[in-house]
Amino acid sequence: MNFKWATDIHLNLFPHVRPLGDEWRSDQPLLISGDISSYHLLEDQLLDLKAGYWGPIYYVLGNHDYYNASWARTDKKMAKLRRGLVNLDTVSLVELGEYALVGQSGWYGGVGGELSHFYLNDFRAIEELACAGHREEMLDRIKARAESQAHKLWAKVEAAIESGHREIVVMTHVPPFVNAAWHEGRISDANALPWFSSPVMGVGLLALAERHDVRLLILCGHTHSPGECWVSENVRCITGKAVYRDPQLVGNFDLNAMFEGIEAGERLTAFPQSRGPG
Ligand SMILES: [Fe+2]
Ligand SMILES: [Fe+2]
Repeated sequence: MNFKWATDIHLNLFPHVRPLGDEWRSDQPLLISGDISSYHLLEDQLLDLKAGYWGPIYYVLGNHDYYNASWARTDKKMAKLRRGLVNLDTVSLVELGEYALVGQSGWYGGVGGELSHFYLNDFRAIEELACAGHREEMLDRIKARAESQAHKLWAKVEAAIESGHREIVVMTHVPPFVNAAWHEGRISDANALPWFSSPVMGVGLLALAERHDVRLLILCGHTHSPGECWVSENVRCITGKAVYRDPQLVGNFDLNAMFEGIEAGERLTAFPQSRGPG
């Protein structure tokens, strides 16, 4: 079972819709782990992408997809879009051959954000954050969003396990483990981690993987730097590479080989490696 994966393609940064290369035409499933565009262009650019792509496209949203709108408005609008484009937030499970694919957009956890002086454009470009009265209130909203997104994902993974799936692909935007929050070959520093990881989500994924005989392959993006985290014996998390204004696939992957690689404790990619959730 082969699939293509892209992340953080930020199509809104193109002044004109530029035709994408041949690698963007295939009948294989295409997975996109968020930061596809921004609110006003998101729907049209996804439809354009789908018009030239024969296979199904499965996606989650990233923080940039909410820019110049709100969480509520974007989620509502994107819940309606169909035509071969599957927003994984709106479905419980998709079958990829014999494997299950579940996804949830997620949000960064904000843990330790009180002490971080990092400024994200999210704080002014997303209504719920821009309208917060003060930084503490904004952080509360961030943490609540991260938590509710995590609960939604756990429920889907649990349901997939209950329906008999043992090998599950999990897609989300923000790395759910500190050790998957790569920045140029290393793990992000304490100042950046509140905004580039969602450990609140990771904790529950790890607990599910410990309780059940399953293998989880987690795909995420957001940091734009690639890496592979050997989270535990049965959980592997891969963070995809992205470059602004040069949308590329992270790659073509063979799911059979990836799950066999997890089973055998082998590397799945040539990306920098880390061990443990962090
Ligand atoms: Fe991004
Ligand atoms: Fe992002």
